[in-house]
Amino acid sequence: MYCTLFNTIVLFAIIHQLIASEWNYGSEGPDVWSDINPLCAGHSQSPISITTACTAYKKFSPFAFSKAYSEAQNFKIINTGHTISGTYTGSDSSIFTLTGGDLTGSYVFSSFHLHWGENYKSGSEHQINGEKYAGEVHFIHIDPTTGQTAVLGMFIQSKIQAITVESRKRKRDPSTTTTAIPTSTEWDKYLLAAETLQEVNESVVVSLNLASLFTGDLNTFWRYTGSLTTPPCTEGIIWTIFKQPIAVNDNQLVLLRNNLYTKDYRGPQPLYSRLVYRSFPIEASSSIADYMCCWKKN
Ligand SMILES: *[C@@H]1O[C@H](CO)[C@@H](O)[C@H](O)[C@H]1NC(C)=O
Repeated sequence: MYCTLFNTIVLFAIIHQLIASEWNYGSEGPDVWSDINPLCAGHSQSPISITTACTAYKKFSPFAFSKAYSEAQNFKIINTGHTISGTYTGSDSSIFTLTGGDLTGSYVFSSFHLHWGENYKSGSEHQINGEKYAGEVHFIHIDPTTGQTAVLGMFIQSKIQAITVESRKRKRDPSTTTTAIPTSTEWDKYLLAAETLQEVNESVVVSLNLASLFTGDLNTFWRYTGSLTTPPCTEGIIWTIFKQPIAVNDNQLVLLRNNLYTKDYRGPQPLYSRLVYRSFPIEASSSIADYMCCWKKN
């Protein structure tokens, strides 16, 4: 009998281990990812909360995108079980090449995906001075010769936040706000497709103009070295986080929350000894309080 009980316990432990390997944003969420993926407890993890006053100014070369980015191309939009991701359906993804932004070499577009949260004030992975946005989109690029990964990240701002929070802030200090760019029809296309993909592995092909998904100010960004924000949390990823958010209608995010998952974002990880660069000389949103917390003189 004891033997049977012991076997049952072992069996449950094994089953738990199997289930645990299926990481998620709930019971097997970010807090316990490192139990199975030790890299997730590393000292160069993403996302981070960027303390703007502690960033160092550096002049970056402008980003350059190949022609395919500004053409309509077919993308497979799929529910991966963790996010809604988009990959090019054509045979040669090297038609999408990204250079500049002080990246060494030439990067090829790999995929993009979205993170969102349970309400209009949460969902972004990166934070700016502790503030979250309603979501964040990541465009993953890989240098085929070195295997180096570079991610372009953009904040998604709910129009509710844009109206209420931002207008209140603007009254207090007109210099602190960054106006979100309005949703493009490409974003509507992506979100309308994403909302319908309720089952894992369900997919749909959508014609998208990638460049129209990021028509914001591409010269104003932060740069640091971090990790994948999902297991296995591989480090050595070059991150570019653009300052200007993309505005979307909150009802589109509500559909994602209700139809797919409530949330799929990881919270900020410790910065440790990393330095975050900014591509713009004036940091309007710096405050005295921010300066006090800088341990490193920029
Ligand atoms: C989804 O597709 C992947 C890859 O083909 C497969 O390994 C996985 O079992 C599928 N998941 C579900 C829930 O269908």
